[in-house]
Amino acid sequence: MWLTGLSGAGKSTIARVLAYELQLRGLPIEIIDGDVIRTTLCKGLGFSREDRDTNIARIALVCALLTKHGVAVISAAISPYAQARDAARVTIGNFVEVYVECPLEVVKARDIKGLYEKAERGEIAHFTGVSDPYEPPAQPEIVTQTHRESVDESVAKILSYLERAGYIPAEVASA
Ligand code: ADX
Repeated sequence: MWLTGLSGAGKSTIARVLAYELQLRGLPIEIIDGDVIRTTLCKGLGFSREDRDTNIARIALVCALLTKHGVAVISAAISPYAQARDAARVTIGNFVEVYVECPLEVVKARDIKGLYEKAERGEIAHFTGVSDPYEPPAQPEIVTQTHRESVDESVAKILSYLERAGYIPAEVASA
């Protein structure tokens, strides 16, 4: 499951709740979060297109290695460039692109990390949505609109897709 969207759109939150739900269904699960991976495997990378592409290619490789062994992997990185996401799709194979959509005005108003304010003041160069592009997916498998839905609703949408696509068995309602 490849979550893509602006910083502050809700990718990490959805990833955590989705991981919990999949764990309940007995699946081995791993989250690859951009914020976390940038402190380890991708430490030292910046936010130029080249560095973002490297970041995404490394994340995609880890996802591919894990999925090959039956682990359900949730990637949560901005991944702003369509080309890099398409390359990740090819690398990984079983790829479910989830567009975590949220209007720029809303993520700016949330500004959970205070980064949008800094970016607007010109203190962070190449900030996605402010001074750097975000290319929305043209044909994502799923779109969640975090300004309109609760986290649980977004997660339910993803689970329902995974059931319909045969990735996980349909939940049998308990009697
Ligand atoms: S990606 O573009 O390479 O996919 P990634 O998801 O790993 O980005 O990291 C994004 C996080 O880095 C943001 O949530 C934010 O906390 C931080 N960040 C710091 N500088 C920038 C920037 N210039 N653009 C976007 N995010 C940034």
